[in-house]
Amino acid sequence: MDAISVIRTKRDRGRLSDAQIDWVIDAYTRGEVADEQMSALAMAILLNGMEREEIARWTAAMIASGERMDFSSLTRPTTDKHSTGGVGDKITLPLAPLVAACGAAVPQLSGRGLGHTGGTLDKMESIPGWRALLSNEEMLDVLGEAGCVICAAGDGLAPADRKLYALRDVTGTVEAIPLIASSIMSKKIAEGTGALVLDVKVGSGAFMKNLDDARELAGTMVGLGTDHGVRTVALLTDMSTPLGRTAGNALEVRESVEVLAGGGPADVVELTLALAREMLDAAGLPDADPAKALADGSAMDHWRRMITAQGGDPDAPLPVARERHTLHAETSGTLTRLDAYAVGVAAWRLGAGRARKEDPVQAGAGVELHAKPGDRVSAGAPLLTLHTDTPERFDYALEALAGDAVEITDTASFEPVPLILDRIV
Ligand code: URA
Repeated sequence: MDAISVIRTKRDRGRLSDAQIDWVIDAYTRGEVADEQMSALAMAILLNGMEREEIARWTAAMIASGERMDFSSLTRPTTDKHSTGGVGDKITLPLAPLVAACGAAVPQLSGRGLGHTGGTLDKMESIPGWRALLSNEEMLDVLGEAGCVICAAGDGLAPADRKLYALRDVTGTVEAIPLIASSIMSKKIAEGTGALVLDVKVGSGAFMKNLDDARELAGTMVGLGTDHGVRTVALLTDMSTPLGRTAGNALEVRESVEVLAGGGPADVVELTLALAREMLDAAGLPDADPAKALADGSAMDHWRRMITAQGGDPDAPLPVARERHTLHAETSGTLTRLDAYAVGVAAWRLGAGRARKEDPVQAGAGVELHAKPGDRVSAGAPLLTLHTDTPERFDYALEALAGDAVEITDTASFEPVPLILDRIV
């Protein structure tokens, strides 16, 4: 077997054989296939696609490149959620303790942000003392103590994906549906969860800009999960405007704690409850009542136990950025657009995100939204507040919000986009 023949097969729109797939993934993980060869293959896959059987084999080969976790010692059913990434998407934070409070175990292996979408671990790390890196034993201890754990995936989980994802990120090959589906599902299947709910984002702030692509991605991932014995369901949810009223690490933690305290923005509460119901249903706990667990404080109790078990102080004040700049409405009317991608890029430029894996992030940086699409605003009213420790970034962030990112129209009839667009099983 050699890399060039594998690349040629896909370049010429052929179907990769099982042997070709197993070999190329294994040889790439071991360093025998070079980055430039894997880049060429990834680009051929992006351009020419893969059949369902090829994607299934590719995923299985990535799972086989590393270890598989085992939660069979737990007495509660395991259930997990994965979002394809969006702006202001802090849902994992209230969701994991909420589902734990309803009787399931939630091992939430999460990532850091790259580009305009924030990462769950970056958000959680703004909590003083909280640790993302846990050994497998520590992870099981936190799960036993709090019913949920949010932590970094260990290096041993799907190492082929770790290498390939970093390569795709710098070769313009992230957006291939077979590669996204196999990347996400190899990690989730290797993680060993019994049930999985996928939140596939659609809109300007998401990888998938339209509903058809999102449906194809969701259907592919649900098929992969089901074939591997993981009860998998996907919700397609809107990402044309940010979720909630904040985008940025500590800002989003504060908003998540508001949700756990029974308040918070309506869209964050709606999506948290919808995903919780799906996760509990998939875990075989259809009678659990997540709305009650939010209202009676038991979800907050699980949050506090999880933070404490991971070295954090749930009562410590969260970091606040040193500088602020507020943008005001130029006219009166209805806010008809507040573009998710533009807000995500602005938050990123303010220091909430990173351009390279090794860059640090600012805990307090980000964007606060004072109005959401559909709200009436008056000329001069505050629309957005930008937060950063480095005010020289304001101009660059404001550039992202120029043009048609924000639209105020003199209209009385505004049709909001529903938050939940579809459900795929
Ligand atoms: N998230 C992943 O883990 N992999 C992708 O390919 C895209 C998003």
